[in-house]
Amino acid sequence: MRRLLFAANWKMHLGPREAREYLKTFTLRYQRRDDRDVWFFPPAVSLEAAAQAVRDRGDLWVGVQDVYWEPKGAFTGAVSAPLAAQAGAQAALVGHSERRHVFGETDPETRKKVHAALSADLALVLCVGETLPEREAGRTLAVVTRQLDGALGGGGLDAAALARVTVAYEPVWAIGTGRNATPQDAAAVHREIRAWLAGCGAQRTRILYGGSVNLKNIAELLSEPELDGVLVGGASLDPEAWGQLVQTGAE
Ligand code: PGA
Repeated sequence: MRRLLFAANWKMHLGPREAREYLKTFTLRYQRRDDRDVWFFPPAVSLEAAAQAVRDRGDLWVGVQDVYWEPKGAFTGAVSAPLAAQAGAQAALVGHSERRHVFGETDPETRKKVHAALSADLALVLCVGETLPEREAGRTLAVVTRQLDGALGGGGLDAAALARVTVAYEPVWAIGTGRNATPQDAAAVHREIRAWLAGCGAQRTRILYGGSVNLKNIAELLSEPELDGVLVGGASLDPEAWGQLVQTGAE
């Protein structure tokens, strides 16, 4: 049975006080289920508060939204993987489209962040996905493959490191737009990602879909067996609604 992963990307929302309140509500609303994991990616300033709030719940993980590749040093404003781990992070999100397109992060930079996160023993969620012009030009698979090659390819990651990787397929045109990919469209890309990962010896990597996932479309998306879970921005910001969303398909 696949073990679903529901990942909440809070982006630049919910400070420490709000994170504590949120998680108090959420943990009352959602009890542990063995068929799924729930991860939260709060802003770095809220990591410690969030980690503390879920410390009694092994099924709930907290992760950092981005890391810088150096472990420490004179890099004003940056957060490294070991510092995030010290604050309670168990995972890192790397290569999110907002890092790539708003902050201009390149494939080689994403790669350095992947290695930094895995070296700090964090689990990794690597985001990949094409823009609308790339999709319309029929370049979706070329772009996703380039991003996978750039971040994970060329050897250098052993089986233990690869086992800690999750890939999130997030078409840029679907993020925050209210326009989600159809389950079939997502599945077609997931199959390519799965084939690419199998070529690296990674057989059991979870592949998530992200982009305008909400309470209305989650059941249909998860009925597609290629989707091992979801990465959700906007619809993860309300603890009641997220508490409901993460129980999709639960008996
Ligand atoms: P969205 O964001 O759910 O608000 O579209 C998803 C993401 O950016 O991870």
